Amino acid sequence: MTTFLSGIQPSGYLHLGNYFGAIRPHIRATEQPGEHFYFIADFHSLTTVRDPELLRTLVREVAVTYLALGLDPERATFWRQSDVPEVTEIAWMLGCMSGIGLLERAHSYKDKLAAGIKPNVGLFYYPVLMAADILAYDADVVPVGKDQVQHVEMTQDMAGYFNNTFGKEGEPVFRRPEFRLEDEAHFAKVPGLDGRKMSKSYGNGIWIFESGKKLKKAINKIPTDSRPPEEPKDPDELVVFDLLALFLDDDELGDWKAKVRAGGEGAPGYGHLKMRLVAAIEEHFAAARARREQLLADPAELDRLLARGAEKARARARVVRDRALKACGLR
Ligand code: ADP
Ligand code: TRP
Repeated sequence: MTTFLSGIQPSGYLHLGNYFGAIRPHIRATEQPGEHFYFIADFHSLTTVRDPELLRTLVREVAVTYLALGLDPERATFWRQSDVPEVTEIAWMLGCMSGIGLLERAHSYKDKLAAGIKPNVGLFYYPVLMAADILAYDADVVPVGKDQVQHVEMTQDMAGYFNNTFGKEGEPVFRRPEFRLEDEAHFAKVPGLDGRKMSKSYGNGIWIFESGKKLKKAINKIPTDSRPPEEPKDPDELVVFDLLALFLDDDELGDWKAKVRAGGEGAPGYGHLKMRLVAAIEEHFAAARARREQLLADPAELDRLLARGAEKARARARVVRDRALKACGLR
């Protein structure tokens, strides 16, 4: 049986880009045959988040967002990384077998240095913890975005160093994982309110559960020009259509596009299109928004759910941790 595993950092409120680009494909992937492991990488977020109340809130938000949007905790083991301390033990063992050069070559680390961030040791060590996350569960396949591919390759290297040193013929200590780079065509690239890629770091995002006045205000920011509704336009050049395309069915989308292309009497203006987008977003997430409220209203149940996930995850990680302790002579 194939074991799929992936993690998400609780580093902010999740936006429509995260939904179409990551959350929805993640949830759909759990329908494939195999075992599915999903966790909230809160230890990883500690490399950047410095506000304990905020970190607690973000962990809860990410958990509630995935569950409200349909992650089935029966189908996928879902837990909080820091509830499985075995990964930090495995990370230490891996780190002792890995050269500093390997970590110095990490793009994510080099990018942060280049951006002038004064790195803490955690940021440098981040790929080792990520390798432990993957190896602790004997994962076969790690579905990731492009920016994480190198981290999975580093995991393969670290598993290799450890196995070469301590594994026996035909009996590796760690299972070698493969990354699965999701087919770009399946992953929508969602534009933000300024037309650039939607991203936390650009401040151009729309929170998945935004609604009412705040949602209207956000959508109104989508850039338009002063051309009147009657003037024929190419809908494919308008950001509002990139967003509408994510929500409307083909027939309705085609209809709006045809009207905009034709112009004249009866062609919708930008305000009209934006209103349709607001309604479509409200409707698309209505059920999930209600589930989110329910989940937030019962924090004890959410804690129980994450604890159940952690228990399953931990039982698995313990076996691998014990294997590694024994292999290197610590038991
Ligand atoms: P951000 O750019 O907001 O910091 P992250 O880098 O934390 O987002 O991305 C989390 C996940 O969401 C990744 O899998 C990433 O590919 C996906 N994602 C983020 N922004 C977009 C977007 N605008 N369109 C599609 N997918 C996105
Ligand atoms: N580093 C990943 C990210 O920022 C999150 C992550 C942590 C992860 N550990 C992992 C992803 C293990 C996949 C497997 O998105």
